[in-house]
Amino acid sequence: MNDNLHTLRCFGCGARISGVDVRPDFRCTDCGDLFEVNYPGWAERKDQNRPNPGALKWLWRERRCSGELLDRSGVWRFRELLPILENFGNAVTLEEGNTPLYALPRAGKALGLDQLYAKHQGMNPTGSFKDTGMTAALSVARERGFEWVACASTGNTSAAMAAYAARAGMRSLVLIPEGKIAWGKLSQAMDYGAVTCQLQTDFDGCVSVLTEIVRQAPIYLLNSVNPYRLEGQKTPALEIAEAFDWNVPDHLIVPGGNLANSSALGKGFKEMKELGLVSRVPRISVIQAEGANPLARYLAAGGEKEFKPVEAHTRATAIRIGNPASWKKAARVVEETSGWCLDVSEAEIAIAKAELGAEGLGCEPASAVTLAGLKKLRAQRAVRDGETVVLLLTGHTLKDADYTIDFHRGALLQADEAAGLEAEIAKLRRNAIRVDATPAAVLAAMKDVPA
Ligand code: F0G
Repeated sequence: MNDNLHTLRCFGCGARISGVDVRPDFRCTDCGDLFEVNYPGWAERKDQNRPNPGALKWLWRERRCSGELLDRSGVWRFRELLPILENFGNAVTLEEGNTPLYALPRAGKALGLDQLYAKHQGMNPTGSFKDTGMTAALSVARERGFEWVACASTGNTSAAMAAYAARAGMRSLVLIPEGKIAWGKLSQAMDYGAVTCQLQTDFDGCVSVLTEIVRQAPIYLLNSVNPYRLEGQKTPALEIAEAFDWNVPDHLIVPGGNLANSSALGKGFKEMKELGLVSRVPRISVIQAEGANPLARYLAAGGEKEFKPVEAHTRATAIRIGNPASWKKAARVVEETSGWCLDVSEAEIAIAKAELGAEGLGCEPASAVTLAGLKKLRAQRAVRDGETVVLLLTGHTLKDADYTIDFHRGALLQADEAAGLEAEIAKLRRNAIRVDATPAAVLAAMKDVPA
């Protein structure tokens, strides 16, 4: 398993190329589709050619006690499953990964599920799951000698890229849609020293501009069309399997935006099964916001299906994406694992986010679609009693504090959006109370707050 050998395989036509030959926009020259990293021979390895799953599991666990920088990363700890660098010494790491898997007893009780968990990827160094992908792809950029890296972003990718580029002493260019990303994320790109351009367009418009830029200048593209990002983003699947002692949960629920992460996790589980590390893969479901739901629409359509981009609108700005690049990869994962793809309303997202906050976890709005989606799936009896379910929380609650404050102040949702859910919302709201600066006034105020 120490063969640092990979090829890129086109997801559309199956063409195989060497990693160094890929076009700067990461599209196939023959059919224009995206690539995925492929390790020739893994699927076919049998008997003595197969790595010893027990030895790998032991090695990966041992590394958790190691003081070596690479071992302390929850991505590079599993480096045998992502041999994408010629020299692992080129890895740029902020000790990402190794994120917590929390039980959700309150939400679980409300839904009649004893085994409900949240894998909190917001507990990464820059506060989102993007760090796991960025350590992988930016390391490739460094190894290949690039000075500049770039991404178009709804905020989290740019925060992660800027941080990792800064650590590597590289320059970074960020294109973001003006006024449509959360302040916390914008502040991170600035803090980490990126050249940050706010474009008067949406995320999909930023992607188009950047695709042209990387064709014209020697800048390494770090959007999730870059298949090396997904190699890092598959490692939470390994962590989840490890946390369940290599018995995978029944169901993993993931938010969907540009639709790369769901496919990365699916790839992780699939490869673990091929290598004999686990005996099955979980169902993987993708949840989108109602106003940014092209995959949900596509998969719901019967008969001749055609993928149609939408004009995206949602306050969950991280997933405000109408023309997701990786929709084919995500559709395949959902179909192959017999998962579902649903959309949820703005009010459902806000309620689910407040409920996760009330469990002491918190997350950004885009992450809360997972709990909102689970509630729907449970109501439809798609998720059965006794199933073990993991929600993938993608971003930290502090990424978008304005959203949280607006919710608790009652300024987030319009009356028509909240219609029928007013009582549920009122129970969750905890607006700050203006109180006189005396103990008596504070004690009196405490009495007025519902339990
Ligand atoms: N959750 C959060 C917090 C995100 O930032 C994103 C994507 C997603 C979910 C969706 O993941 O795109 O792989 O389906 N954010 C990107 C960005 C697009 O630019 O930060 P996906």
